[in-house]
Amino acid sequence: MLVFTFSKVATKADPPAALRTAHPAPPAELTYRDKVIGLTQEVTNPFRHLEKDDKEGFKTHVDNGRRVYYQNCFYCHGDDLDGEGHFAHGLNPPPANFQDPGIIPNYQESFFFWRISKGGPGLPPAAAPWDSAMPVWEDHLTEEEIWDVILFLSEYTGYRPRTFGEAEH
Ligand code: HEC
Repeated sequence: MLVFTFSKVATKADPPAALRTAHPAPPAELTYRDKVIGLTQEVTNPFRHLEKDDKEGFKTHVDNGRRVYYQNCFYCHGDDLDGEGHFAHGLNPPPANFQDPGIIPNYQESFFFWRISKGGPGLPPAAAPWDSAMPVWEDHLTEEEIWDVILFLSEYTGYRPRTFGEAEH
C-alpha cells in the first residue's frame, strides 16, 4: 500500500508530496441527494449477494455497470480500465488504474461508492493539495448505477474489493 501511495504521489512535481493522502478514509456517512447513506465498514454492495443467490440477476447488474462505465468513465479511466483514457494525459493526478493490484483489493465497496459519488471535490483536506479531476457522479448517476459500476470494475479486472472483517494487506 505504501509503495503504491508513494509512486502515485511521486509522479507529481509539487512538494510537499509526502503529506498527501491518496486514499483517505471515507466518512462514516454521506448525503446522497437527500438521503443519508451510512458508509460504516459493514455496508456492502446491495447487489453483491446476487452473485451467489441469482446469477442471472447479478449479470444484469454487471451489464448495467458496463454500460455506465463506457458511457461515463472510459474517457479518463480507459477502455481497459488501466487509467489510460483519452483524457488521461492532461490530468494530474492521473485517473486511477483499476488494473493496479493496489487499488480494488485494498478497499471496500463502500469506499468506492464514496469516491464515485463525491469525486475529487469530496476529498477531505488531508488529500489536499490534490487537484483531482474525478467528477461528482451523484448528480448524474443513480445509487444503483454506482453500485453496478463497482460490480463491473471488479468483474472486469478480476479483483475483488475487500470485505468487512478481512485483514488489511
Ligand atoms: C474527467 C476524468 C474522469 C472521469 C470521466 C472519471 N474519473 Fe474517476 N478519477 C479521475 C481521476 C483524475 C482520479 C484520481 C484522483 C482521485 O482519486 O480523485 C479518479 C479516481 C477515481 C476513483 C478512486 C480510486 C482510488 O484509488 O481511490 C474511483 C473509484 C473512480 N475514479 C471511479 C470512476 C468511475 C466509476 C467513473 C465513471 C462513473 C469515473 N471515475 C469517471 C478522473 C475521472
